[in-house]
Amino acid sequence: MNFYPDDVIEEVRLNNDLVSVVSEYIHLERKGGSFFGLCPFHREKTPSFSVEPTKQFYYCFGCSNGGNVFHFIMHIENLDFVEALRFLADRAGMVLPEPDNKEEQHKIKLRKDILTVNREAARFFYTALAGKNGSRAQQYLYSRGIGIQTIKRFGLGFALDDWSALSKALMAKGYGEDILISSGLSLKNKNGKLNDRFRNRIMFPIFDLRGNVVAFGGRVMDDTLPKYINSPETLCYSKGRELYGMHLAKKSLEKKLLIVEGYMDVISLHQAGIDFAVASLGTALTNMQGRVLKKYAEEIIISYDTDTAGRKATNRGIEVLDQLGCRAKVLQIPEGKDPDEFIRKNGPEKFKNLVDRAISHLEYKIRQLKLKFPTDNPDGKLAFLNGVADLLTEKENILEREMVMKNISRDYDITIDTLQAEVERRLNQKKRKEKRNEFNQKKRSLTGSIGSFSVKRKDGPRETHEHMLLTLLSRENHLYSVVSERYPVSSYSEGSNREMAEVLYQKLSDGNDFLLEEYITKLEPAKAAMIVGFSKDCNFEEPEKAIEDILKKLETIKLREEMKDIQAQLKNINDVNEEQRLKRQLQEIIQRMCR
Ligand code: UTP
Ligand code: MN
Repeated sequence: MNFYPDDVIEEVRLNNDLVSVVSEYIHLERKGGSFFGLCPFHREKTPSFSVEPTKQFYYCFGCSNGGNVFHFIMHIENLDFVEALRFLADRAGMVLPEPDNKEEQHKIKLRKDILTVNREAARFFYTALAGKNGSRAQQYLYSRGIGIQTIKRFGLGFALDDWSALSKALMAKGYGEDILISSGLSLKNKNGKLNDRFRNRIMFPIFDLRGNVVAFGGRVMDDTLPKYINSPETLCYSKGRELYGMHLAKKSLEKKLLIVEGYMDVISLHQAGIDFAVASLGTALTNMQGRVLKKYAEEIIISYDTDTAGRKATNRGIEVLDQLGCRAKVLQIPEGKDPDEFIRKNGPEKFKNLVDRAISHLEYKIRQLKLKFPTDNPDGKLAFLNGVADLLTEKENILEREMVMKNISRDYDITIDTLQAEVERRLNQKKRKEKRNEFNQKKRSLTGSIGSFSVKRKDGPRETHEHMLLTLLSRENHLYSVVSERYPVSSYSEGSNREMAEVLYQKLSDGNDFLLEEYITKLEPAKAAMIVGFSKDCNFEEPEKAIEDILKKLETIKLREEMKDIQAQLKNINDVNEEQRLKRQLQEIIQRMCR
């Protein structure tokens, strides 16, 4: 955690505005002083995920996840703190200083070495393809219509039909065994020698956005299985993160991106002049990939296979893009072909026509519905129309809704008024539900007096009020002298409250500002979420008065504890003088409590 100086960590935080970071993952809308969206950490239909632009906090009323930009990235990218720090430094274009930790330094070096050895391997494969042992591979590519320019542009290559050609060549160049294994290029065999992972295969280097070779895919040249072998996940490569062809597609002049399934589709499309194609590499689109797409394009067209797996992946892709607030379309290729096959048969122009006629995601869903409920019988038709009404309710765009309703009423012999009425009824239902949710949320985060303060945790009244005191003080630093005098650090209950008080009081007594948003950086996510949740609930209009109330309450709690203590002592006492003394003390406490 402390491999980097505090001021560097804080600078990274300040350079990554939480609203824009979160907006890369979900669609946010402004409501009053905050932004709201659908929580990415649990499933929900109405937004309860909020971002505070000034405090730079996020908090979800639904699942109580909360924190600052570090916690958000740790959760959503599934990273530890240092990884999140590096991720955000990268995003802000900052170069972090060398960490003062051996393990971290080692990781950084290993990552660099893997990229170097990968580039070396790509060169080796490329040269092999051009060489005399590569003639069969060349033939294979030509037979699939891939020209020399395309081979160059994508850096295609050939892994020789040999157990260790690459491993030997790389070791001769001075690369160590460990790096060959870490990169996934080599595997250790039973005898402790290195074997090449890729043998007798056409090689597809996978580039990241900056043009680094992060991994490889290798295809057989016949029907043996597996058809493709891919690099394993490494320090430089995570399958759900990369998009094949993105380093080229990002330069396209078109403001759209086309997502297809495989290597060959991308290559074939680019060769045909459709230079905005990328592949999600055999998996359904992930949120991470979606974000990259969103960054580079206004319109995103999904063109997966039409088989069951492809349909599932399409639906999932739409869901991912929808959540990101992207405009998604679907392109369905006739006769169940993949883009490569279609182009080979029909030529690029026909494919471009398909791109222009890609359907909206609403229309796609309606087509799916039609397949599910054949409308040639009354029951099917009813189920279909109800399904359509459901879909139309989800759509925000009135124009699109209107257009679809017109088409449906024409095609299914139903008046537009009836359809409209069904949609209205659902919309009203939805609105009522949203109102209810909003009301419940308001009820949960009460403002004003402490009396109505809502506590969601198991803490006792003392911990709760200490928490309020700390939260308030961290926002109203000028109240320090009053607070520290009446409730010193030593009064806090042991554990996280006292730890926080120590830091807070120290900073304030030194005349520094204390920033709650900075403080929580160092806290484990659960604690940070708790403090942020607290801080949200803690909206006092008159902080001075609130502080006074809280201090009084804490003093009362403390006196009550003392009282209990004395009463316990009095129960088993023999010494008369001592008894007198305790009774006087008790009297005093009672008087103080009544004051
Ligand atoms: P496809 O089987 O559709 O292959 O898998 P393709 O890209 O059309 O290749 P050709 O046209 O048969 O040569 C789509 C993608 O799924 C991944 C690859 O990324 C492939 O491009 N895949 C497929 C694998 O990783 N391993 C496999 O064994 C098969
Ligand atoms: Mn194919």
